[in-house]
Amino acid sequence: MQEEQVQEKIEKAARQISSAQTLIITAGAGMGVDSGLPDFRGTEGFWQAYPLYAKLGLNFSQMATPQHLTHDPTFGWGFYGHRTNLYRETVPHEGFGILLNWIKRFNLDYHVVTSNVDGQFQKAGFDEDRIVEIHGSIHHLQCCEPCKPVLWKNEHKFEIDFETMRAASYPLCKFCGETARPNVLMFGDFQWLPERSNNQERRHVACRHSIEHLAIIELGAGKAIPSIRWKGEQMARNNPGSLIRINPREPQVPSGQISIPLTALEALRRIDAKLKG
Ligand SMILES: NC(=O)c1ccc[n+]([C@@H]2O[C@H](COP(=O)([O-])OP(=O)(O)OC[C@H]3O[C@@H](n4cnc5c(N)ncnc54)[C@H](O)[C@@H]3O)[C@@H](O)[C@H]2O)c1
Ligand SMILES: [Zn+2]
Repeated sequence: MQEEQVQEKIEKAARQISSAQTLIITAGAGMGVDSGLPDFRGTEGFWQAYPLYAKLGLNFSQMATPQHLTHDPTFGWGFYGHRTNLYRETVPHEGFGILLNWIKRFNLDYHVVTSNVDGQFQKAGFDEDRIVEIHGSIHHLQCCEPCKPVLWKNEHKFEIDFETMRAASYPLCKFCGETARPNVLMFGDFQWLPERSNNQERRHVACRHSIEHLAIIELGAGKAIPSIRWKGEQMARNNPGSLIRINPREPQVPSGQISIPLTALEALRRIDAKLKG
């Protein structure tokens, strides 16, 4: 896309946002990339982040399963404990603050819908009651069985040996003493407790009844697991307003929607500059 075309989309996006009543922010792993987080894009990207898994020939979907946690918990928690530490340490980039400023400045009702399990929107100051985490959260635990349909906060301190990708210790179920796991939806996962995500979704659907003019801004959601992309496309079909898709590598949109082939931070800064200018 030519620079003039990109600028035209930026201007169109700015007009959508300044005239909206409700802002829906949808986000995938790409939203975290400008904060320094990996998006695990492709097996090569995953193996660059985790060289031991490259040696063992294990890809993202083979690591993101409940099996390791139940059969070899120090190995399973090596992956999830490392990610817990990473997400705890990460400072959300300036783009999160830009979104919060628009919400305040244009007095927007808003909701965040994300497949990220990293808790970065909460950390950046978004209201916990306005966030839907469709794949759960690494900062909440449940029993591996599960013996009870109850979640609790993940406050475990993880020490990970990066050579072996094993955790020195891991959390146990508060009720039965078996291994606990993150409340994250994994591959081939029949034990994930969806109630927390379902409750978040119910709050979000309830607020959508009164929508008059909607702007949906999607940041870094990939095609491989397209749940976030589909949700935004569906909302754009069923409501007055547009989908603004921000993605440097997979920017394609259904006709009539706005595609911005830039990183999340750059696009948000440029839309912000237009709104201020
Ligand atoms: N941070 C997290 O919580 C995290 C991280 C990795 C994976 N996951 C899980 O794995 C799955 C991954 O799916 P996904 O679609 O979120 O990720 P994905 O890795 O499949 O896709 C990431 C997308 O982000 C785009 N991208 C890359 N850099 C970007 C940038 N700087 N700005 C904006 N976009 C950028 C890529 O082009 C790609 O389309 C999800 O189910 C999610 O639950 C979560
Ligand atoms: Zn239990």
